[in-house]
Amino acid sequence: MKKLADCALSVFMSASLFISAFNSSELIRHPADFAQATETTKYTIEDIRNLQDFLLARETPDLTGKDYDLNDDDRWDVFDLCLMKRQFIKQSSSGSNVLIAYFTRAENVYLDNPDEIDIDATSSASVLLPGNAAIMANHIQSLVGGDLFPIVVENLYPSDYEGCLERVSKEQAENIHPSLANHLDNIDDYDIIFLGYPNWGYSCPMAIFSFLEEYDFSGKTVIPFCTHGTGGLADTISDITALLPEDCTMLKPIGIYRSDISDCYDEIEEWIAELELF
Ligand SMILES: Cc1cc2nc3c(=O)[nH]c(=O)nc-3n(C[C@H](O)[C@H](O)[C@H](O)COP(=O)(O)O)c2cc1C
Repeated sequence: MKKLADCALSVFMSASLFISAFNSSELIRHPADFAQATETTKYTIEDIRNLQDFLLARETPDLTGKDYDLNDDDRWDVFDLCLMKRQFIKQSSSGSNVLIAYFTRAENVYLDNPDEIDIDATSSASVLLPGNAAIMANHIQSLVGGDLFPIVVENLYPSDYEGCLERVSKEQAENIHPSLANHLDNIDDYDIIFLGYPNWGYSCPMAIFSFLEEYDFSGKTVIPFCTHGTGGLADTISDITALLPEDCTMLKPIGIYRSDISDCYDEIEEWIAELELF
């Protein structure tokens, strides 16, 4: 049902974009000299945002001479935007070797009763799929391509919030790094590693530290993304940094408050554009 709703939403959005572009036919033909785009033209997130803004009649920088007519029909429309996004993902995922590793509570709990759904009023932490960090991971993948890797512990956490918190507190107090259930074939396939997690007890879930200890991150670029309650990123960045080798580069992290998760795509898109990865 959700898939159907997502699909309907996406069709609706594409249709609205198309209609808005169609209605403003003056805007479709950009006064710039059209230069035909080729498969080798390299597009950035900035280009995607420019074309999107142009089609929605929002303010854009000077786009004169831009290769935004990807299907060579002498106008800029939503079809060019789709082609641009496809080309961007293809190009960014083929050369840069991006991994998006994330831990989310919903993929790390056991349910005594399969119908059980726990939404804790105090923490707003739920075991409903997809978890918040997974939502962020999926947004990142849709923007930069790359491989998703869910970090999952061997010994799953209790689904009730109190039980989970009790174990988390014990793990933190005793510095326990839990064994992981899944493993990467080859970390050397990746140069850029987005690392996602929720704030747990002012730090990361201990499984993040298990993950960092398992692989050699020398020479790699690590980019943390966090979802949290009122605690923000807390100690997560310093705790991650402590486990990374000196020649590993960490780029600016992002933190998204849990209540903003359903509406965080644009913020993630802006953050990735600022990283200037490609
Ligand atoms: C065991 C546990 C501990 C948490 N501790 C904190 C905390 O110290 N600070 C905070 O801001 N949020 C805390 N949270 C809230 C989560 O960071 C937040 O709900 C997050 O969006 C959940 O992401 P997820 O769905 O990917 O697991 C905690 C949640 C759980 C389950």
